[in-house]
Parts: sequence; structure tokens; C-alpha cells
Amino acid sequence: MLDNKGFDLWADGYDKAVGVSDGENRYPFAGYKRILAKIFQRIMMRSEPSVLDIGFGTGVLTAKLYERGCKIYGQDFSPRMIELASAKMPRAHLYEGDFSKGLVEPLLHRDYDFIVATYALHHLTDLEKNNFIHLLLNHLHTDGQIFIGDIVFETRNQLRDFREKVGEDWDEEEIYFVIDEMKREFPNLRFERFSCCAGILSLSR
Ligand SMILES: C[S@@+](CC[C@H](N)C(=O)[O-])C[C@H]1O[C@@H](n2cnc3c(N)ncnc32)[C@H](O)[C@@H]1O
Repeated sequence: MLDNKGFDLWADGYDKAVGVSDGENRYPFAGYKRILAKIFQRIMMRSEPSVLDIGFGTGVLTAKLYERGCKIYGQDFSPRMIELASAKMPRAHLYEGDFSKGLVEPLLHRDYDFIVATYALHHLTDLEKNNFIHLLLNHLHTDGQIFIGDIVFETRNQLRDFREKVGEDWDEEEIYFVIDEMKREFPNLRFERFSCCAGILSLSR
């Protein structure tokens, strides 16, 4: 599993690497741009909402929301990612912290209109994902929404079939979402597929 130093090293080449994989419509980032664009569009249906971004990386999504007047909050554990994102969003509230340990203290003091996590939560085990999502749901305004854009499969069998197709490119360290298993924990979970391997999960209280 990449630690924060691994992400520091990846940070400067991140946007380019993602663009190549998405452009070729290949695992792992097939669908990335369209997923982020759809989340952006949904959030912009509200006027100047507050948005918490978990694992914001270089700020590809949140910098656009910031430019359009959203109040941006975020947590990431890579100092270099935070540096790159802060340069694009000087007035955003961006904090360094490991989300496998929950939210950092300053983020616990408020609720949000939207909470987003794109290509970040697959670094948690399934149990950690569920516990963290419950925590996040408690920090949503009553009419708020969580959008998770990530690598996702409807069933465990679909994940296994896809893994076989991908072969040695499959990242053994990442733990992807399986919708029918998650629905046992979050019955009102909605899922929309955007590519062979990725989509958007939406949750509300
Ligand atoms: C693949 S990048 C995704 C960045 C961005 N959300 C995007 O869609 O381009 C994953 C991000 O999550 C952060 N991250 C991974 N594990 C983390 C953890 N346990 N705690 C905090 N941040 C983490 C990394 O530093 C990195 O910025």
C-alpha cells in the first residue's frame, strides 16, 4: 500500500499519469474525467455549498469547485499533494491527516453539504470503508450527499473476472468497492457505472 511518502513521489506526475490511463480508456483510471465532471455538475446545482474532499490529491475536482465559489475543506496525508492543491486554492481549509484514523479534529466541528472522495477510499479495507462512511454520513447536512468516484464492481464475481482480464497490471494493494456487499451496510446506496471499472456511489442520510 502506498504510504504518504509514496504519494509525495507520485504527486508531480499524478495528473499526467491519470490522463494517459483515462485517455486510453484503460484500468485503473478509465472514466476518471467523466466521473469528476459529473460530481462537479451535481454539486454546482446548489449555490456556494460547503464541500469536504477526502484524499483531494492535486485538487483536480476541488480546485474547480473552489473557483466557482464552493467552500472547500479537505484531508489528505501527502504533504506534496497538499502543497500542490493549496497553491490552487489558497483560502481552502486543507488538513494533513491519515483518513484510516478518521477525520482530523478541525474537520469534526462542522457538517457539509457534500462530501466527495475520488480514487482515495480504495486504500481502506472494506470494514474501514464502512466505518468511515458512517462517520462521514454523520457530518452531512440533512439534505447533503456523499459522492464516491472510484474503481467499483457490482459483484465479487465481476471483480474477479475483471482482475483476470487485467492480469499483471492489477494493483493487489488496492481494495475496490463491491456494490452488492456494500448494500448490506448501506441499503439506500446508489451506483452509476461510467467505465469498465469505475463509477459513482451516492449516499445520503
Ligand atoms: C489516487 S489519489 C486521488 C486524488 C484525487 N482525489 C483525484 O481524484 O485525483 C489518492 C489520494 O488519497 C490520498 N490518500 C491515500 N491514502 C490516504 C490516507 N490513508 N489518508 C489520507 N490521504 C490518503 C493520497 O495522498 C492521494 O492524494
